[in-house]
Amino acid sequence: MFKKITSLFTAITFIAVTSLFGLSASAQTPMVIKLSHVVAENTPKGLASLKFKELAEKKLPGKVQVQVFPSSQLFGDAKELEALLLNDVQIINPSLSKFDRYTKKISVFDLPFLFKDAKAAADFQKSKEGQALLKSMEDKGLIGLAYWHNGMKHFSTNKDFRVPADVKGLKFRIQPSDVYESFIKSIGGSAQKMAFAEVYQGLQTGVVDGQENTFSNIYSQKFHEVQKTIVETNHGILDYMVVVNAKWWNSLPADIKKGLSEAMAEATIYNNQIGQQKNDEARKLIVDSGKAKVVKLTDAQLAEWRKAVAPVYAQFEKDIGADLIKAAQSHSLKK
Ligand code: LMR
Repeated sequence: MFKKITSLFTAITFIAVTSLFGLSASAQTPMVIKLSHVVAENTPKGLASLKFKELAEKKLPGKVQVQVFPSSQLFGDAKELEALLLNDVQIINPSLSKFDRYTKKISVFDLPFLFKDAKAAADFQKSKEGQALLKSMEDKGLIGLAYWHNGMKHFSTNKDFRVPADVKGLKFRIQPSDVYESFIKSIGGSAQKMAFAEVYQGLQTGVVDGQENTFSNIYSQKFHEVQKTIVETNHGILDYMVVVNAKWWNSLPADIKKGLSEAMAEATIYNNQIGQQKNDEARKLIVDSGKAKVVKLTDAQLAEWRKAVAPVYAQFEKDIGADLIKAAQSHSLKK
């Protein structure tokens, strides 16, 4: 009798201890990893997120289950970084313009006309300085695992325009970036920070007159249906940093960390292969729709844009660092 009571007591203690540390289920139940983003599935980031899920689950069968939440379904722009720090989501991939609360240095990516094309931005990301930025927010609890690409951004508005003088007084939706706020001011407009999920309605109801984005985002969000002109300004890059909660990442068992790192490396290659293609496809679909006019700039018109933005560099040089700006610029000078 005494023996029976002792073994019952031992069993109860075991269950209590293992469930307290979440150990009881780990042998059978896969670890759930939530990945949340704000764009549509048929975009470079949407497709690469699904690719990461597929690869991670293949490399770690029965060990992980990656749940992907697109289109701000789980967390939108305003909440996703906080949610990551609270471990309510384990992986997010915000655009580089959404980190300036955590490090001013990353704003280098927002400087207008800094990169001559998407390749120059990618080369900078691969450089020593670009790789260091992935680690620049560790003291804030964020680790950057990879850069993902979307592509070059263009302005659109509800009127016909070519040069900064034409957009004077217009209100533009921007991402939460102080550099972009100053950029819009430099071209004579006013800026309103707004979450991505609210942009279509903002444009449709006239809360804002214009926005700036890549063709894949413009098409998948139907912005071209509520805008008159898209001017191919190529004024900046829309790229992403895939980030994880540092505490969560550092506490992962070695095999899981290895499998996830490999899946991330392969999903990154895939993302970089499809970025250009998705944007070219979206551009064609917009032109074919006959809704917004897509316009290329002459060299003289482009020069007007470049001239207008000079004060932005002077304003942010100290925060970002002259050396970092120079290092980023060097990749656009290469042949
Ligand atoms: C935006 O807010 O315009 C973009 O950052 C959305 C995205 O993630 O591509």
